Amino acid sequence: MSLPSSVKIVEVGPRDGLQNEKAHVPTDVKVKLINKLVDAGLSVIEAGSFVSPKWVPQMADTRDVFKRAVVGADVSFPVLVPNLKGLEAAIEVGAKEIAGFAAASETFSQKNTNCSIKESLDRQRRVCEEAIRSGLRVRGYISVVLGCPYEGDIDPRVVADVAQQLYQMGCYEVSLGDTVGVGTPHRTKDLINHVMKVVPIENLGGHFHDTYGQAIGNIFGALEMGVSIFDSSIAGLGGCPYSPGATGNVATEDVLYMLNDMGIETGVDMNKLLVASEYICEYLKRPTYSRAGRALLSKQRRTA
Ligand code: HMG
Ligand code: MG
Repeated sequence: MSLPSSVKIVEVGPRDGLQNEKAHVPTDVKVKLINKLVDAGLSVIEAGSFVSPKWVPQMADTRDVFKRAVVGADVSFPVLVPNLKGLEAAIEVGAKEIAGFAAASETFSQKNTNCSIKESLDRQRRVCEEAIRSGLRVRGYISVVLGCPYEGDIDPRVVADVAQQLYQMGCYEVSLGDTVGVGTPHRTKDLINHVMKVVPIENLGGHFHDTYGQAIGNIFGALEMGVSIFDSSIAGLGGCPYSPGATGNVATEDVLYMLNDMGIETGVDMNKLLVASEYICEYLKRPTYSRAGRALLSKQRRTA
């Protein structure tokens, strides 16, 4: 199979990356981070989520983040929305795109959204209808596609069924989330094989957390299957509050390093990406989780 000539990177650091932080991250820091990501050439940056602030307090300032970050930027800023209340907030701030989310295991669905898979899909259907009527684009996530922290292995046919429903209700893109980071390239390819029968491959994205160090391999496997949309997080930040033990998303720097070497276009500038990465790591007072980022920064320092 031929590899895609270009890839869309969906930067999820400001949302997935920061939703799990123990320390409070001020609005100002989030806005500066987003502006640096825009400067690096990322064309899709998830700005935050309109979920219950009692469930995920770290995203409670999404309204302000969104209002301050979008001005003048020719970039898409999807926001996560679980229900009509979230959609209302997204419309009020002028969002052009939202991301809905469902899960492939009943227990995860209950823990993450306090409802069954069917109830969450029914909610998402109403959100989709209303969003599309209001002129918004809708992306759809499916969590725990390669394993669940509560139920273990997941049947790829269940993932395919949820993916088909999200696609049919109007999600223009369906992102397959390995929330726990347990997937391997072999299982990723098998999953995509199932899902691409019901959702066109060009509408499928990969969202790999890197807990077991398999995310880059999974992306390579997905690229070989024809997937050309990948979610990643600056400095490898992130995790889901309802996925105990899971670490961050694959680092944007690691994905870009591999894609650059393969001659695959992304429109993202590595040096500017490293500026964004250094900025947020300095604020959080921790080293980057990106192996490529760490190596490139230390090379820059040696040659400076
Ligand atoms: P619930 O408690 O069943 O909701 O939660 P409810 O409708 O009964 O409302 C309870 C309270 O929440 C009410 O407030 C509502 O107004 C409020 P109260 O009267 O008690 O003061 N509320 C809201 N507030 C603001 N925005 C809203 C909203 N909705 C209700 N949209 C709910 C159900 C879905 C709201 C809750 O479970 C929730 O917010 N869950 C979100 C969890 C979350 O954000 N998880 C992380 C993101 S998903 C993820 O990380 C996975 C992903 O990265 C892919 C992957 O890696 O797999 C995408
Ligand atoms: Mg995630």
